[in-house]
Amino acid sequence: LIFLHKPEKVFFIFLISFLWNTCDCGKILVVPLEGSHWINMDIMIKALHSHGHSITVVRTTKSWYIQGNSEYYNLVTVNVEEAFDHEFMKLILEKIFALERRGGSFTTFAGLQLEMFTAMYNLHGIICKMARSMFTDEDLMKRLNETKYDLVLTDPAWGAGIMLAHFLKIPLVYNVRWITSGEGHLAIAPSPLSYIPMTGSGLSDKMDFLQRFLIDPQYQAVCTEFFGAEIRYRHLLQGADIWLMRVDFVFEFPRPTMPNVVYMGGFQCKPAKPLPPHLENFVQSSGEHGVILMSMGTFVDEVPNDMTDQIAAAFAKLPQKVIWKHKGYRPTTLGNNTLLVDWILFVAHGGTNGIQEAIYHGVPVVGIPLFFDQYDNLLRLKERGGAKILTLSTVDEDNFLNSVKEVLSDQSYRENMQRLSRLHRDQPIHPLDNAIFWIEFVIRHKGAAHLRSESYKMPLCAYNSLDVIIFVLAREGLFDYTKCCINSSL
Ligand SMILES: *[C@@H]1O[C@H](CO)[C@@H](O)[C@H](O)[C@H]1NC(C)=O
Ligand SMILES: *[C@@H]1O[C@H](CO)[C@@H](O)[C@H](O)[C@H]1NC(C)=O
Repeated sequence: LIFLHKPEKVFFIFLISFLWNTCDCGKILVVPLEGSHWINMDIMIKALHSHGHSITVVRTTKSWYIQGNSEYYNLVTVNVEEAFDHEFMKLILEKIFALERRGGSFTTFAGLQLEMFTAMYNLHGIICKMARSMFTDEDLMKRLNETKYDLVLTDPAWGAGIMLAHFLKIPLVYNVRWITSGEGHLAIAPSPLSYIPMTGSGLSDKMDFLQRFLIDPQYQAVCTEFFGAEIRYRHLLQGADIWLMRVDFVFEFPRPTMPNVVYMGGFQCKPAKPLPPHLENFVQSSGEHGVILMSMGTFVDEVPNDMTDQIAAAFAKLPQKVIWKHKGYRPTTLGNNTLLVDWILFVAHGGTNGIQEAIYHGVPVVGIPLFFDQYDNLLRLKERGGAKILTLSTVDEDNFLNSVKEVLSDQSYRENMQRLSRLHRDQPIHPLDNAIFWIEFVIRHKGAAHLRSESYKMPLCAYNSLDVIIFVLAREGLFDYTKCCINSSL
């Protein structure tokens, strides 16, 4: 460089930095979910864009949350008739509220499970129709194939992205906590029942069995139609290169894992930023008492009116200021210390995003879980002394007020959350940087097959070494009737 004159030098440095910046940059095809899952994925997309990657997002003509135009991603739009949207969600919620508040009998529990299951079944039906529409659109598929994407990034709770990666024959990376049949680890890592608490054990969808045997076949039908019956949907699902898990072991209970699982819990959390002026004034006016945030998450706009009144009345009795993300019916009992706002992120219903934010910022939680994994998420915080859980069927002004007061006055809740926050933040690399490293790793090496165990393709007998045990027993003359099992696994 010292031998070059100045203009050449500048050009040369420019060229080097240009090459440097482009060499790892890839073309990433993102197949996201809706609602809070999209909000979460969007943060990752922004970060990938700022690392120089080019991002294409697959949406539908009926997408709910995914913006039609953006500076940091391109769009591919699939034609659909139906979608998972506000109406779909509202109907489920109304049924859940009605059932849940009727009381804790077995029929209520069974009714809830049936409602959740039917909703999930219909939801995956909608996604399968979307996948069919995508695969039959020859122009679209040709265009996607010709673009030569480096990888598909998807949330495997919906299956369209998994099948698209198979169609395009490119590596697959997950932003994951849930798959169609339950928690992600259960599909690839050993999960001894003795110390791994089953998720969905609370009021949510404990229907792993039914999901697996009724929902996966919906996806299998699409696979069979477009790829042939020998391609098993379950194998495509389990065969992803990297699983970026939205948990860490500050939040999740310790468990066996696999080399291609990367923990990025809390990747979306950032240091607090200044508030917009109208909130800042309100918050400052709380003086020494501080502020309570309340939100029921992205999917839920409102809870039933009588419940809203009771919660508002309880808040009105507190010296703290309250910021409540709430739309619709305005409670008659609203105190002058409570501000209703359109959107604020918080903790209370127990969604993964909010819980991770609470851990990151060390804020204790009063939780009212509604559905999905929310009860299990809150349970993990409760076990660690950072949260108190109320159930939808019993929440009223008195117990709500008592719980809020207890969590505010009993210092242990705050101390426990602050301890979790310190543990969570004490990592060699920020979880978002870690996630991006692994995505770029997959781009550089065209997959990560060396990290992936192929054990999921083994027959059950072989996986559990039953064939070996039975072979030994049979040789000892103990069993004759075991041939079928040996034959099926050899
Ligand atoms: C995708 O493109 C490759 C060539 O780049 C071609 O061989 C392949 O048949 C195409 N696949 C589909 C499904 O069009
Ligand atoms: C809020 O209401 C309380 C009691 O209802 C009253 O004492 C207080 O002055 C009110 N504060 C404001 C700012 O209006």
